[in-house]
Amino acid sequence: MCGIVGYIGPKSVESVLINGLKKLEYRGYDSAGMAVLDGAELSTRKALGKIAELEKQLKGQPVDGTTGIAHTRWATHGEPSTINAHPHLNNERNIAVVHNGIFENYAKLKAELMDDGYVFVSETDTEVAPHLLEKYIDEGFSLDEAFVRMLKRLEGQYAIACISEKMEKKIYFARKGSPLILARGNNEYLLASDIPAVIPIAHEAIYLEDEQWGYITEQGVSIFNLAGAVVEPQWQSVSLKEEDVDKGDFEYLMLKEIYEQPDVFERIFKERIDDSFIHFPELKFGKEYLARVGRMLIQACGTSLNAGMIGRMYLEQYAHISAETDYSSEWRYRNPLASGDSLVVGISQSGETADTLAGVREAKAKFMRVLSFLNNINSTMARESDAMIHLMAGPEIGVASTKAFTAQVLNLLFFSLYVGSIKWLLPAEERREVLKEILALPEKMRKILKSHEQIKQIAEYLKDKNDTIFLGRTYNYPSALEGALKLKEISYIHASGYAGGEFKHGPLALVSDNVPVVIIAPQGEIRTKMISNLKEAQSRKGTIISIITEGDEEIKKESDYFVEIPPCLESISPLLVAIPLQLLAYYTAIARGCDVDRPRNLAKSVTVE
Ligand code: M6R
Repeated sequence: MCGIVGYIGPKSVESVLINGLKKLEYRGYDSAGMAVLDGAELSTRKALGKIAELEKQLKGQPVDGTTGIAHTRWATHGEPSTINAHPHLNNERNIAVVHNGIFENYAKLKAELMDDGYVFVSETDTEVAPHLLEKYIDEGFSLDEAFVRMLKRLEGQYAIACISEKMEKKIYFARKGSPLILARGNNEYLLASDIPAVIPIAHEAIYLEDEQWGYITEQGVSIFNLAGAVVEPQWQSVSLKEEDVDKGDFEYLMLKEIYEQPDVFERIFKERIDDSFIHFPELKFGKEYLARVGRMLIQACGTSLNAGMIGRMYLEQYAHISAETDYSSEWRYRNPLASGDSLVVGISQSGETADTLAGVREAKAKFMRVLSFLNNINSTMARESDAMIHLMAGPEIGVASTKAFTAQVLNLLFFSLYVGSIKWLLPAEERREVLKEILALPEKMRKILKSHEQIKQIAEYLKDKNDTIFLGRTYNYPSALEGALKLKEISYIHASGYAGGEFKHGPLALVSDNVPVVIIAPQGEIRTKMISNLKEAQSRKGTIISIITEGDEEIKKESDYFVEIPPCLESISPLLVAIPLQLLAYYTAIARGCDVDRPRNLAKSVTVE
């Protein structure tokens, strides 16, 4: 949800900011803008649409200077338009502010400022910030005082950066609820919403905490808390490389991330498996505590919740823990009942999703313990959870989650096997058998990835449809939800996932010769039940696309299209099924001419409620 970047240093500010914005485009792409200080003169540029539009404008009207801030927007308050694009300015047009988050009390502040004669030009909440700053500066406060006074008036969540003709070579910043990092290279300083925006310049970074503010200058960084006390900078080295966040030879980041999955799994195996034992070195909960956990309440959003639904079955199957799942946005507003042996679980790629984070906070407010499964271990959720499990998927930039999903499912599976073992409820023989199957997954995934030509043909058929149904049962019911989510978010074809058993209780009415049905039917206990679903859809003229185990001639014969996955244990089949579903969504979106990495109306990290 919006990305911000700032730079002070000897390089071309314009190109550093544009490069930084491109790395943050996954956070929103409704409009982009920048403000640059050349000496004491402030210049701004704004463009509607993707960063490429801002780049075009800068070609005709370049900006030059040593200090600058920039923004890529995911619209919340006010439609996507040039006037609503950041940076926002005060009436004297000498203060520029970029903001990620929402000022919840902006309407009240705006009314008050308008009464004082300040003129607003945009519909955004952000515009109150430059006017407030101007007001406090006009009242005689120093820049530092004015900035802190402004912060104290702002309710809600924010990461903001601000430059002004009144403060040459200085960028003010503050964070509350939205991510913000500071970074340094060679005699140069940056700030950004996320690490990818500061590589390859930065060697070191600081992850700011809530209610910290300060400024960067040519000389360094100064950080304070709201009471004015100095905060000692905690620099950490930046290990991420440019190739980790670039699409390389792939057409889209999503495709690169789909193809990375076998390597991600092998990397996770190295860290987690030693002989036939599973390790979680980062996990702060001891074995005694984990053995006493009787109930796990999993809350997450989108793809992460789908992974959690598979995880719930692993917890029941292998760890003998009763588990439930819910959307974070629902969970936190109902009254979840928890006993002393309950553990709340948050699952998130970014660790910054506002709803999931609010769920974590709700749990802590009710004195429940929280374990989070996170890809970003420097995130707010990492800091606020009692314990954390690192997903180790590597940076995921594509808006549609792929490798983070399979890494979530794999880590939940490892965790369930681990807890089952420490409780002495999972026989060592069974654990070894499952681990053997897990270790064989990367090669099987590579094999499925080779069926891309076949999947492209299915996408050619699917691309002209308006609706698609995905069906699965037990372990693959969440796969059906995930397959439908992937298809709709990047190809804009309406898609719904259902539990196979529920099909005849309503969704069957949707089937016609124009509504394809994706049947997920790998070998295992539920395969014959899925054949019944297939028949039900077929007799209503539905086109059948099946995902089956290699050599399943019976289902193959009945299907209009099929994709095969290698044989595997039913419980781990979602980890293989995910790949054809991801590729199907990807190639359908490509066939429809969609921008896969920047689906309309969406952003990668949803940091507002
Ligand atoms: O960063 P998180 O895992 O918390 O994000 C949760 C959802 O916003 C995310 O999974 C979303 O559903 C994806 N775009 C799906 O591909």
